[in-house]
Amino acid sequence: MSGTSRRRLLKGLVASSLPWIGVPGARAQLPPLLPIPALLDATRGGDVHLKAQPGQVELAPGVASATAGYNGPYLGPTLRVRRGSEAGVTVHNALAEATTVHWHGLLIPSQVDGGPHNEIAPGSTWRVRLPVGQAAATAWYHAHPHGATGPQVYSGLAGMLVVTDDEEQALRLPSRYGENDLPLILQDRVIDRAGRMVYPRNPMAVMHGVVGNVMLVNGVREPQARVGAGLVRLRLLNAANASTFTLAFTDGRPMHWIGTDGGLLRAPVALRRITLAPAQRGEVLVDFSDGREAALAATDSVRSVPVVRFAVSGKGEPARIPPRLAEWKTPAREPSLRRRELTLTTGVAPMMGRTGHGGHGAHGIDGAPFDMKRIDQQVKLGDVEVWRIATRPSAMMDQPHPFHIHGVLFEVLSRGGKPPGPEDQGRLDTVLVDEPVELLAQFTQPAPKMPFMYHCHILEHEDHGMMGQFTVA
Ligand code: C2O
Ligand code: CU
Ligand code: CU
Repeated sequence: MSGTSRRRLLKGLVASSLPWIGVPGARAQLPPLLPIPALLDATRGGDVHLKAQPGQVELAPGVASATAGYNGPYLGPTLRVRRGSEAGVTVHNALAEATTVHWHGLLIPSQVDGGPHNEIAPGSTWRVRLPVGQAAATAWYHAHPHGATGPQVYSGLAGMLVVTDDEEQALRLPSRYGENDLPLILQDRVIDRAGRMVYPRNPMAVMHGVVGNVMLVNGVREPQARVGAGLVRLRLLNAANASTFTLAFTDGRPMHWIGTDGGLLRAPVALRRITLAPAQRGEVLVDFSDGREAALAATDSVRSVPVVRFAVSGKGEPARIPPRLAEWKTPAREPSLRRRELTLTTGVAPMMGRTGHGGHGAHGIDGAPFDMKRIDQQVKLGDVEVWRIATRPSAMMDQPHPFHIHGVLFEVLSRGGKPPGPEDQGRLDTVLVDEPVELLAQFTQPAPKMPFMYHCHILEHEDHGMMGQFTVA
């Protein structure tokens, strides 16, 4: 088989399978209510507290799975911060192993970014002040320890982080948290025959990342959300280890796309489906004023599997969507801008049984696996640069990689050598790379000594070497 036809076949297989349709283990009779993570308001001064701790949850009735969470057994509270104020956070590590907490999507100095260099030993506490200077956005936080990000995030160490500001508040978008402003944390997980959540550690998982057979929303399977008849804002977060999700309403109702990783779009875009790669966020407004029940489903070309259902109370007036959202300046693309080219490379080592985590170098960037002691790039503080990211498929694997850069937001300049389509608009911190993409980024956050990371956000790829680091000074 030629390289291209194999590639096409593999892609075809991946594209037509929603693996979590298998749903092992008996389901509860009634759909569970959508759990809403507690809101931790860090906009008022004073510290908020996170405690990383072990826990247990039941994903099949009567069967406990070992998990971890912040201030609870699985996932964590939603942290709310505000542009122009400093958020104080303490993180206590009550786990039996080292962890870190990375503020994914926050533009803050590397010193407090929570990457693998900010290790929190078991039993100790990390106190940080996060200077929030960016526009309103949906970000998130998650564990990021060297070589063990995959298993820790999988076990539940993640939560949502909401940035607000005056401009966003002036738009009067739905903002009643848990009522008409809903966090939806999407994760696929592997449930074994006994109904237990397990983290597969095998060559396939290292090769392709961990792909689940059930879908969890805010930690539960196929929940139901109760909403009023009106406009509802969904903050969608793909917190999966490896899976890309395409979401659509089963009745075909439009979603008004208003925000990406880095904040609001300039104007809303009506969509029937939205695709989110691992780590990406999407904010959408959905009009439930017809009072009809609806279901948001994960779809592909063949079928669609409900992930969350909406029970709507009352009947309302068709909602008004603001025509304009945010303003921001895209830096000019000048020919003199510094260019960097990175190639994400996949290795064959996992197929040969070298599956231990941490620096085994199954994967890499430009052929080199991640090394905590090696600085891969040095960027000048304040510079605008063009980064071209490509992938080099191996004989055994060809899959798109969600590429993420810490400490920066970027815009897509081109994809496959052509101008980007509408789905690539907005300010991003993570982009799905299949054909080469060119990114335009301005580096505003200092990282003079402790570096920032860039990596594939398929967490098993990251843990096995597809990561690099850069200083900004
Ligand atoms: Cu969301 Cu370096 O990670
Ligand atoms: Cu990040
Ligand atoms: Cu990858």
